[in-house]
Amino acid sequence: MSKALDGVRILDFTHVQSGPTCTQLLAWFGADVIKVERAGAGDITREQLRDIPDVDSLYFTMLNHNKRSVTIDTKNPEGKQVLEALIQKCDVLVENFAPGALDRMGFTWERIQELNPRMVVASVKGFGPGPYEDCKVYENVAQCAGGAASTTGFDDGPPVVTGAQIGDSGTGLHLALGIVTALYQRTHTGRGQRVLAAMQDGVLNLCRVKLRDQQRLERTGTMKEYPQYPNGQFGEAVPRAGNASGGGQPGWILKCKGWETDPNAYIYFITQAPVWAKICNVIGKEEWATDPDYATPAARLPHLKDIFAEIERWTMTKTKFEAMQILNRYDIPCGPILSMKEIAEEPSLRKTGTIVEVDHPTRGKYLTVGNPIKLSDSPTEVTRSPLLGEHTDEVMAELGYSPEQISALRTAGAI
Ligand code: COA
Repeated sequence: MSKALDGVRILDFTHVQSGPTCTQLLAWFGADVIKVERAGAGDITREQLRDIPDVDSLYFTMLNHNKRSVTIDTKNPEGKQVLEALIQKCDVLVENFAPGALDRMGFTWERIQELNPRMVVASVKGFGPGPYEDCKVYENVAQCAGGAASTTGFDDGPPVVTGAQIGDSGTGLHLALGIVTALYQRTHTGRGQRVLAAMQDGVLNLCRVKLRDQQRLERTGTMKEYPQYPNGQFGEAVPRAGNASGGGQPGWILKCKGWETDPNAYIYFITQAPVWAKICNVIGKEEWATDPDYATPAARLPHLKDIFAEIERWTMTKTKFEAMQILNRYDIPCGPILSMKEIAEEPSLRKTGTIVEVDHPTRGKYLTVGNPIKLSDSPTEVTRSPLLGEHTDEVMAELGYSPEQISALRTAGAI
């Protein structure tokens, strides 16, 4: 079956996580992704957090599936020429170097346009134009600068970063959308363009509801769905809301059977208004369904702490899966806190290709997260990440270099 991005060639100049996430998605949609790496070293993640000596790390393999790897020294004059040939042949250049690195290499936007006016040049940077534009940025810096950390955690504790890589993988996703959008516009204009996804902007986009809350707080001085209401204090900025779910449907994380020894024996429980009577029945507090202090969402707000304590007395008598089964029977929204071990072993995720087992020539079998976006006419087949420089000769031949020229460039250290 054909793939959505068949025929699109990507010059993948990305490293670490944010850029590789983006180009991996494009590869899964069928683009030919040619990853350009530094000869001898490659993407730094190949050797980071290694679990097997001298074998590409899971960090690298899990972010670089379905790509080809070419090693070029882009600071070597002959290496530069090879890169120029690639720029002429590709549709998109994706990079996430430190600010200015591509220009220092000699590949300014103007130069790239001279070489290929149809090329889309897509970049991840830590910050957009402004006081921090020259900073190098990693995941947690973006989480902090994008508003996620100040709004995550508990009121009486410090800001907290999340396990989800919203700065890196989140920005990679934003960039991927920018790239396919620019490619679509190119079908009308015939021109490439620059695409920029700044990590601070990407995180802030995902924290949109917190900027909503900032303005609500400034107008009214309080926010009823926050755990600070009605007894705590609100300051000038959006506070950390713990595990509150917000909106008109209060939620919290509650202990389940086994919590004393299992750090993930918890369930997220939402006291959704339409099923309040059912919740009362399940936990054995039938009287709350009609008690004026508990019967309506507004009446319940000042009692939420006690309500969740009462519900927890019930959830602690069930495992998270038993609680899930019972609550789902009554359409009561809830979610088990799944550990990575449980997720890795979940058969339904294997079935949909969201968790995939991949074979690798030096690593052997390992698990990865497959394409979370499923297209009915463009199925994803996850193939292993490339070894360093595995496709150098193949790609050079496609660019028109003869075996003799390839060997001379290798001797010169250009590839
Ligand atoms: N041949 C020769 N040189 C190469 C090369 C190649 N194939 N590929 C890269 N290089 C050079 C670059 O030209 C650059 O040289 P310069 O500093 O002399 O200009 C150098 O390698 C290092 O690139 P840089 O991006 O500065 O790497 P770093 O390890 O110092 O910084 C980051 C890493 C991630 C902090 C930085 O790249 C960054 O801020 N990126 C943007 C934000 C981002 O994506 N962050 C998230 C990462 S998950």
